[in-house]
Amino acid sequence: MSFEHVDYTSLDIPAAPFSDPSVVPDFPQGKVPRHVGVIMDGNGRWAQQRGLVRTEGHKAAEPVVFDTIAAAIESGVRYLSLYTFSTENWKRSPSEVRFLMGFSRDIIHRRVDQMNEWGVRVRWSGRRPKLWKSVIDELEVAMEKTKNNTTLDVVFCINYGGRAEIADAATQIARKIASGEIKGSKVTEKMISQHLYNPDIPDADLVIRTSGEQRTSNFLPWEAAYSELDFVPELFPDCGRDVFFRAIDDYIHRDRRFGGVKK
Ligand code: IPE
Ligand code: IPE
Ligand code: MG
Repeated sequence: MSFEHVDYTSLDIPAAPFSDPSVVPDFPQGKVPRHVGVIMDGNGRWAQQRGLVRTEGHKAAEPVVFDTIAAAIESGVRYLSLYTFSTENWKRSPSEVRFLMGFSRDIIHRRVDQMNEWGVRVRWSGRRPKLWKSVIDELEVAMEKTKNNTTLDVVFCINYGGRAEIADAATQIARKIASGEIKGSKVTEKMISQHLYNPDIPDADLVIRTSGEQRTSNFLPWEAAYSELDFVPELFPDCGRDVFFRAIDDYIHRDRRFGGVKK
């Protein structure tokens, strides 16, 4: 069965309504992570366990993505980075890559108004070369439409690789040094931070990976250098906002020391 013939546009997708306020945990003010990253992993295994093609797992992930966004809003998180397609994912079969590109483009298109209503500002982190132009076009429309929203920034990491991001920052800095725009030859950490894809977004406080894999697969190596990590066993399509709330609750009880000593 060829992936392109799967009609994913006709799916009946739940709108991910907000929870009954009585079920939203009352997280202590000031303790909720400002920036959470999610490595949404396990879609292929979810499908394979059911005897389905891998792309069925990607389709099953769509409502979970929006449940996760709703949970982030309900928790008071300010930035949510979603690892959607990595610079390494081009290694997959051409048909799966085609599906993921088309699916990402269509999700952004059909969900932008919902995100806008929720006060979400859509952002993108990733490299332009190789990424489908139609995906970039939809991202640009969504970013423009939602640019004044301030409830939650959702950063779609598409054609994102952490090493590529650092290399791209280094290239820009090298150019500016060569042209004299940056004086001197010393590259500082601050300079690198200022040349990342979205320099205004603070470092990640918490990175959640689903599916039980315990690695970060080139996700936010710079921004998550001091993040708390939470590896949860559920495959992404089996997750819901309960998994997100559990991760936030766990984070609140962590002791972050940043190399210092607890007083
Ligand atoms: C994550 O699920 C989605 C993407 C990487 C695009 P996978 O497709 O990696 O699913 P598994 O890890 O093979 O189960
Ligand atoms: C990481 O998952 C990338 C995304 C979730 C987009 P992968 O499934 O590609 O990572 P590996 O191959 O297991 O490290
Ligand atoms: Mg995977």
